[in-house]
Amino acid sequence: MNLVTFCGSLRSGSANAATMRAALANLPDGVTVTEIDISEIPFYDGDLEEAGVPASVTALHDAVAAADGVLIFTPEYNASYPARTKNVIDWLSRPPRSWEGRGLTLVVTTPGGRAGAGIRGHFDLVMGHFKVKHFPALGIGAYGDKLEDGEMIDAETIETMKSFIAEFAAHCLAEAPAD
Ligand SMILES: Cc1cc2nc3c(=O)[nH]c(=O)nc-3n(C[C@H](O)[C@H](O)[C@H](O)COP(=O)(O)O)c2cc1C
Repeated sequence: MNLVTFCGSLRSGSANAATMRAALANLPDGVTVTEIDISEIPFYDGDLEEAGVPASVTALHDAVAAADGVLIFTPEYNASYPARTKNVIDWLSRPPRSWEGRGLTLVVTTPGGRAGAGIRGHFDLVMGHFKVKHFPALGIGAYGDKLEDGEMIDAETIETMKSFIAEFAAHCLAEAPAD
């Protein structure tokens, strides 16, 4: 069972990248996660796509096609997706739609207590329209209490994430419901 992952924050001190590092260091048995490089992926542009899908986007599709699911770590911006996260989702929704039949979920880490309720709600609403095995997102709030020296150290959060990833992995491997 292999998942691919990326972080939707560009910030060097990103709390979401810290959450991702902690998740990768504490994976449930039988799950491997490969980080994909999204730094070269351009903003979606129909002209670019028509001229030939950029190599960075083809690499993204190849990585997703070879995986069982996509585990996205992302901040919430203005109660929704940051552009960087949404851009990857937009490219994945385009041919060859490598995400079809794969699992897809988010882990959202925020400074406030709402733990990304806005982006998680958007995600649940929108992903029902695609042939992906959507799995409701995990929200981690109040990160100020959970990080030390830029690393996620909260044992309860790390354990919750581990269980969440195990459940997500099982969901990825389950048969998709018939249309
Ligand atoms: C443009 C912008 C919009 C934001 N909107 C939200 C929001 O809607 N909800 C929230 O919890 N935090 C919001 N924040 C605060 C981010 O959650 C916070 O900056 C967080 O640390 C960003 O994630 P990172 O640490 O992984 O970069 C916003 C930050 C920015 C820059």
